[in-house]
Amino acid sequence: MTSALPYANGPIHIGHIAGAYLPGDIRARFERMAGSEVLWVCGSDEHGAAITLRAKKDGVTPREIVDQYHAEMQEAFAGIDMAFDHYSRTSSDKHHQVAQDFFLKLLESGSFEVKTDAQFYDAEAAQFLADRYITGTCPKCDAAGAYGDQCEKCGSALSPTDLIDPKSTLSGATPVLKDTTLWYLPMGRHEDWLRDYIDSGQFNGEKHHDPRAWKSHVNGQCRSWIDGGLQSRAMTRDLDWGVPVPVEGADGKVLYVWLDAPIGYITSTMEWAEKSGQNWRNWWQSNDAELIHFIGKDNIVFHCLIFPILLKEHGDFNLPTNVPANAFMNLEGDKISTSRNWAVWVKDYLSDFPGKSDELRYVLTSIMPEQKDSEFTWSDYRERVNNELADVLGNFINRVIVLTKKYYESEVPPIDRIKWTADEDAIIAALDSAPGEVAELIRRNRFRDALQTAMGVARLGNKYMTEQEPWKLKKTDEERTAVILNTCIQVAANCSLLLEPFIPQTAQKMQAAFGIKNAQWEQASGAMLQPGAVLGDLPILFEKVEESTVDAQVEKLRTSHASAAPAAACEPLKPMMTFDDFQKMDLRVGEVIACERVPKADKLLQLTIRTGLDERTVLSGIAEHFEPEEVVGRRVTLLANLAPRKIRGVESQGMVLMAESADGSLRFVTPEEGTAAGDTIR
Ligand code: 2FM
Ligand code: ZN
Repeated sequence: MTSALPYANGPIHIGHIAGAYLPGDIRARFERMAGSEVLWVCGSDEHGAAITLRAKKDGVTPREIVDQYHAEMQEAFAGIDMAFDHYSRTSSDKHHQVAQDFFLKLLESGSFEVKTDAQFYDAEAAQFLADRYITGTCPKCDAAGAYGDQCEKCGSALSPTDLIDPKSTLSGATPVLKDTTLWYLPMGRHEDWLRDYIDSGQFNGEKHHDPRAWKSHVNGQCRSWIDGGLQSRAMTRDLDWGVPVPVEGADGKVLYVWLDAPIGYITSTMEWAEKSGQNWRNWWQSNDAELIHFIGKDNIVFHCLIFPILLKEHGDFNLPTNVPANAFMNLEGDKISTSRNWAVWVKDYLSDFPGKSDELRYVLTSIMPEQKDSEFTWSDYRERVNNELADVLGNFINRVIVLTKKYYESEVPPIDRIKWTADEDAIIAALDSAPGEVAELIRRNRFRDALQTAMGVARLGNKYMTEQEPWKLKKTDEERTAVILNTCIQVAANCSLLLEPFIPQTAQKMQAAFGIKNAQWEQASGAMLQPGAVLGDLPILFEKVEESTVDAQVEKLRTSHASAAPAAACEPLKPMMTFDDFQKMDLRVGEVIACERVPKADKLLQLTIRTGLDERTVLSGIAEHFEPEEVVGRRVTLLANLAPRKIRGVESQGMVLMAESADGSLRFVTPEEGTAAGDTIR
């Protein structure tokens, strides 16, 4: 198992954790408990424009940036208990060697096309522009701010020359063209087998994996890219920071970061193997190994199409058997953004809430964006900690420990069968089935449901105890009280196993109190603890969170956001235009009278707009931001004389103007109250 190598260009926030790391950690912890052979590797992604641009902004070297953040990220991951088997980094000599060898193998097998042609160049900065060095409008979804290699809005893989109205992010200038030599991966050659691989889980004419086990949004994205035609992509860059291209005469050229980064998973495995005296090949080249990549949705194309091509072309490696990508997690109504400082940083959380990593893990798992984007709010954090962790789990475990101590000097009481009822049958049946159900859900990467099922056991125990009221029976029915307490102890002991993948620190404390050593999943059952076993003490597991505490967090978020330099978020000014240029635009008020989704186009809404002149169809790439119902009835600003364009077989006659914030959130440019369809705007 791998989790996306995070760029070492900034601290880790809750969105990272919920996206690619917590899923990996839960799965790895579970697999270890279940006795599977599992290896979970990660590391810092230390190349690419993400790093060099950050270094430039801070006025330091890329080396200083990656050293700083590699250390910081490791600390944050450790603080939130990410139990990687190994955490590596891509700027190491070892990785450079591994990535270069991989490249050379592909070069020998004719996997690349070498071409010298004109590429965008910033004459002022004396640099070729690719990736984050160049931005423009996405040709696929029309979003502004797409990068030279990818549109983060629609996830499309791009080349710099695909961008509409490209600009250098170094100087804001319109780039010029200059010749350079690049090594390309001709992805078009691979469409047929990739289609089999994605659609039917077939590889080399054999069954490779079950495509139904993949998330539908992952399959869907891959399919639409393949259907749209795969273009050749440059696998080298003219930069001085990265893995040097190991070819004579290629000075000043490095491997594309998305070529070297996933190879980092292999390097990380090799380092782990060296350190532990194992064979790394067992994990990458053996027939019975699975390869699972935990990533965020913006990384899908790289893990599901590009990396598989590289692995296949190399020839010695297995292909991913599943890529359970998560969507994004928003925060308090807005997109998480590093540049705008709209984030909950793991480091800050741990210093504000020391010893409470499980609380955060619990909440993030409960709202994990498994199929679609989700949202973290501090009030929801408080409710979940107070109502679920403290009131259900903590309260139940505490009552079990306290009553066993009070009535039986902490010894598990024996059971008198005559006092056994159907209520206990129901509880034991639930304990017998829960481990299998939770295991199945975790194996299917459905962590939210898995956590709910495990917590359901605690809920059941808490309810049973409250209903049975052993504290009342104690004086009148000694034997029945013992049956109830024994049953509650079994439930509590089971919880300590079932919840371990999710809240490991709490589970450890519980297991210590119940005398459970080397917890294994198969130990979970209706009769875990024998009569006579002695329970230890247990401190209060969860403290309640005050309203003022979460209010302070929201306040902190808003203040630190406000102090983040706004200039950094602003797009550079476009070149000057004349009044005549402006006059060419026919802008008018339109009224949306109907709106629907465009079939098979996730991003597009089809609007019917009354313009005063006519009623016309306009396609707008806003489907991820608005539901059709929210759009109907709005007055909008319409560019009415834009040349019609056919998209997905529908002709769009104009464009609706939107205001886009630096984080990519969209709002309508709504004409003031009192305006009506057909009013001109000038
Ligand atoms: O999106 C990112 O943060 C990348 N650094 C992920 C790389 S994943 C892998 F391929 F290394
Ligand atoms: Zn796009």
